[in-house]
Amino acid sequence: MKTEIGVIGLGVMGKSLSRNLARNGFKLSIYNRHVDGKEESIAVDFKREYPELEQALPFDDLNAFVQSMERPRKIILMVNAGPAVDAVLGSLRDILETEDIVIDGGNSHFEDTNRRIDSMKEQGLVFIGAGISGGEEGALKGPSIMPSGDQEAYLKVQKYLESIAAKDGDGNPCCTYVGRQGSGHFVKMIHNGIEYVEMQLLAECYSILKNQRQSNDEIAMVFESWMKDLGSYLLGITVEILRKKEGDKYLLDNILDKAGNKGTGKWATVSIADSGEPATMIPAALFARYLSFFKEKREAAASVFSTIGAGDDISTLRLKEAYQFSRIINHHQGFSIIARVSDQNNWNVDLSEIARIWTEGCIIKSDFMKELVEHLKRDDSILFNEKLSQIIKKTYTSIQSAAIECIRRELHIPCLLEAINFFHGIKTANSSANLIQAQRDYFGAHTYQRIDAPPGNSYHTQW
Ligand code: 6PG
Repeated sequence: MKTEIGVIGLGVMGKSLSRNLARNGFKLSIYNRHVDGKEESIAVDFKREYPELEQALPFDDLNAFVQSMERPRKIILMVNAGPAVDAVLGSLRDILETEDIVIDGGNSHFEDTNRRIDSMKEQGLVFIGAGISGGEEGALKGPSIMPSGDQEAYLKVQKYLESIAAKDGDGNPCCTYVGRQGSGHFVKMIHNGIEYVEMQLLAECYSILKNQRQSNDEIAMVFESWMKDLGSYLLGITVEILRKKEGDKYLLDNILDKAGNKGTGKWATVSIADSGEPATMIPAALFARYLSFFKEKREAAASVFSTIGAGDDISTLRLKEAYQFSRIINHHQGFSIIARVSDQNNWNVDLSEIARIWTEGCIIKSDFMKELVEHLKRDDSILFNEKLSQIIKKTYTSIQSAAIECIRRELHIPCLLEAINFFHGIKTANSSANLIQAQRDYFGAHTYQRIDAPPGNSYHTQW
């Protein structure tokens, strides 16, 4: 008896996904490499540990693993993004047969996915890039899945991915065919960018309340009260984090303030720059993490430059509205970059569908995301949605006064500031870029266009 589907790579995510597949009744082959003294009989031990894997076939021999599956084979790759994916594909290529399908469920770069799709195709093999969000728990209980590549081949794996995915409010799977090429991994990368900003905004609100002498429990209470109108997974876990104690001490207070990253925020920032879309909050969140890493420099600068930090307290209502304003701008920018790159590559990504598969299973699931599903059916731009533009107008004075007080208090709030700054920029009908054009023409004869002449004509002046 051959199995229906296989999983390669039994790290945390691979294991959870395998259990999810098995719980959904699929006949499964599982494989983990053998490395003497380091990774030994991983698949066999894993199968023993969980009753739902009773029917699963465990392997540490790649050839035997591949031969155990019915054709066309369907293999989900859950290995680290980067060279590890190419290494496994290199070994698989010699064993797989025409029309076999490999699904990369890691956080791969979408351009790597483009390349892999093409090179596998040359050999008659199919490669599908699938962004998967939701962490360990999501992978086990239902992640949000963003697959892309050849649509016909996708139909052959659709039932597996849809079965293991989270379900939205209407019971539909949080899994959709995103588009051609590596569009699925691109969309997942932007998901992570939005995630960076949502996390950073919460960190900034926390820093403001902390600066206003609120205890972790008090901050947790404030955030908890926001759940009713602005509920999200990230807000919810932040409340729990704030309350977590070790003995009589808050755990959070003992965590070193250096934020790590695994690279998707950096890739998103590079893509934003490449695409020409002014999605400015993701870079701001990324650089906030980078800055956090300079702990020793920050300590040295703190001793050189004293902080006076006088400013009025920001009320929790104002802060809530500033946070709400910033989240709208974050989602506006996130969906705009997806729309822009989708257009540039003819991917035809359906923004409302992306919002829908992000309503459950993923890290940025939120009540706001649920609202966006409808909004994005009508308007591509969140900023110009009638209801949201009303909220932006209503909350504007709150972010303005919060930003002013934060500057007076000398607080580092890059994402809150970027939200209001972007907003000022996007609603400036006549900007100062005329001066930039004049400067470029002055020193480099780069030419400029005139507003008193037909568009498209270029002019140069001997300054
Ligand atoms: C998810 C997460 C997940 C992970 C990333 C981001 O959607 O499940 O985004 O992919 O948390 O690795 O990690 P960094 O913060 O380390 O870049």
